[in-house]
Amino acid sequence: MSKRVLTTESGAPVADNQNSASAGIGGPLLLQDQHLLEKLARFNRERIPERVVHARGSGAHGHFEVTEDVTDYTCAEFLDTVGKRTEVFVRFSTVADSLGGADAVRDPRGFAVKFYTREGNYDLVGNNTPVFFIKDPIKFPDFIHSQKRDPFTGRQEPDNVWDFWAHSPEATHQVTWLFGDRGIPASYRHMNGYGSHTYQWTNSKGDAFFVKYHFKTNQGIRCLSSEQAAETAGQDPTSHQTDLLQAIERGVHPSWTLYVQLMPADEAADYRFNPFDVTKVWPHKDYPLHRVGRLVLDRNPDNIFAEVEQAAFSPNNFVPGIGPSPDKMLQGRLFAYADAHRYRLGVNHTQLAINAPRNVPGGANNYGRDGFMAANSQGRHAKNYEPNSYDGPVETGRPLSAPLAVSGHTGTHAAPQHTKDDDFFQAGELYRLMSAEEKNRLVANIAGSLSQVSRDDVIEKNLAHFHAADPEYGRRVEEAVRALRED
Ligand code: HEM
Repeated sequence: MSKRVLTTESGAPVADNQNSASAGIGGPLLLQDQHLLEKLARFNRERIPERVVHARGSGAHGHFEVTEDVTDYTCAEFLDTVGKRTEVFVRFSTVADSLGGADAVRDPRGFAVKFYTREGNYDLVGNNTPVFFIKDPIKFPDFIHSQKRDPFTGRQEPDNVWDFWAHSPEATHQVTWLFGDRGIPASYRHMNGYGSHTYQWTNSKGDAFFVKYHFKTNQGIRCLSSEQAAETAGQDPTSHQTDLLQAIERGVHPSWTLYVQLMPADEAADYRFNPFDVTKVWPHKDYPLHRVGRLVLDRNPDNIFAEVEQAAFSPNNFVPGIGPSPDKMLQGRLFAYADAHRYRLGVNHTQLAINAPRNVPGGANNYGRDGFMAANSQGRHAKNYEPNSYDGPVETGRPLSAPLAVSGHTGTHAAPQHTKDDDFFQAGELYRLMSAEEKNRLVANIAGSLSQVSRDDVIEKNLAHFHAADPEYGRRVEEAVRALRED
């Protein structure tokens, strides 16, 4: 079989790919060597800005299959028939470190799902934790600055990490979660995923429900101890990537069962705590789990850059029947992601194959035009303004989801007050749920990190949070920190 010819980017055959063109043997190189110039210039442009958080990740393709009838709760087309399958792409990630960081670290994991539905791409951009550290988006840049590498030392600094939490009592629940056993999953396959926020579902009659999503792993939960993680991260920094890639290559397809908790919209105002507070879970005895379907991953990306790095998930990519709740954090995220994508990938990132609404008949159909890297036919001869007299696409007049009730005055308000809105009780409940061994590991993990903080007042403020969650929890962390600092 004859070999294919190597070409330049413009398709011209390349004569020599080993020797640059020079002025005579041993002389300086020639500016006319297009192949050399193009090769070096292209190489300089291989990297794009990494995600400002969740930079390190792995992805896979698969499908979601509906297994239960949920049409009483949502009119979302991709959920309307038992047995219906929708293509998905899922990206898992760590949060704090940069692209080159290790997988086996104590950190939340991202769990972002893109459903390629016939009514548009629906992105559910969650984590492996049912709660989050903060509940107002205005704190997010400060929070992330405190957890990522310090601009002076270039390392993650326990001083910064714990100083932020000292000033954020609402983080106590998630901190308890993070330093517990589930804080270091053994792999992406062996962890659950959560939407974390409260979202809104609307059925075909217009009835609204608030909803929380839970993807439960069918592989079983497996975690690493701090010691196992340190060893794994040293031996194979890409351990989660390796595990996911190899499992799918072997034909062992990971799957998750999706459940939802459903709250009729009119129960939200009088619930005993703010149901839109992402630092809290809804107890299952109040709102039990309803099974919805099964997520299966069965195909690795052909190219990690094109599919995983260029994937763009945005919490404001909804489809009819699914919408946002008034959760303030979620509201902030509705802006942040698409803005990040315009910076990281450009305004036409939705034309990339991984992000395009591939299952919408006819694809995206609107009046957006031009911009860097416009690659599709741009509506061909169709008019680029609306309304028009030329049969261009028109609005439906049907809102995607039910309206949210609002009242009061504009202002920088704290969250609405419900009868039991304090920042500590669910952290205490989580602590009390743990076995004796789990409590031992939790206390040791917290103390190992908190004892590295240089300022006593920062340590004291954090200890006060654990005391407020549960007196035994506070006492044990305090004793463990003191013992380590006296060493
Ligand atoms: C990634 C902002 C809270 C889950 C990102 C990115 C930004 C961001 C800018 C990078 C996007 C990109 O370049 O593609 C924020 C802000 C938050 C917030 C402003 C709070 C106001 C959360 C929460 C969760 C979450 C609460 C989970 C429940 C994720 C995930 C990714 C991500 C999974 C990675 C998505 C991917 O794989 O591409 N976030 N985030 N974030 N965030 Fe958030």
